[in-house]
Amino acid sequence: MIGRLNHVAIAVPDLEAGARAYEGALGARVSEPQALPEHGVTVVFVELPNTKIELLEPLGEESPIAGFLKKNPTGGMHHICYEVDDILAARDKLKELGARVLGSGEPTTGAHGKPVLFLHPKDFCGTLIEIEQA
Ligand code: CO
Repeated sequence: MIGRLNHVAIAVPDLEAGARAYEGALGARVSEPQALPEHGVTVVFVELPNTKIELLEPLGEESPIAGFLKKNPTGGMHHICYEVDDILAARDKLKELGARVLGSGEPTTGAHGKPVLFLHPKDFCGTLIEIEQA
């Protein structure tokens, strides 16, 4: 069902410092910061030849990555995003198989303006999974 790896997301306490590390030391191309209030994060994308790295910084009081950063104060890998052709069909199939879809179960709009859903890490090897209709 899943297709290409769309991005790997890393939560960081300081987006500017994170972007600098990727741009400077690693010589990558990094996008301008983008605030996603609906997701409680500000993101930049590191463009790699075969995929993207998403750096996430908390936005607002209720940021869903605040707890993660409390446990990982210097930052860490937060989720992996896989592409799917049809997000509603993917969701229904996953639910049927007993996987937990987070939130209301209705797709929200992700950083690329495409519908996304998140899957419970306990069902997938301890890793939070995002699926995006590409
Ligand atoms: Co993501």
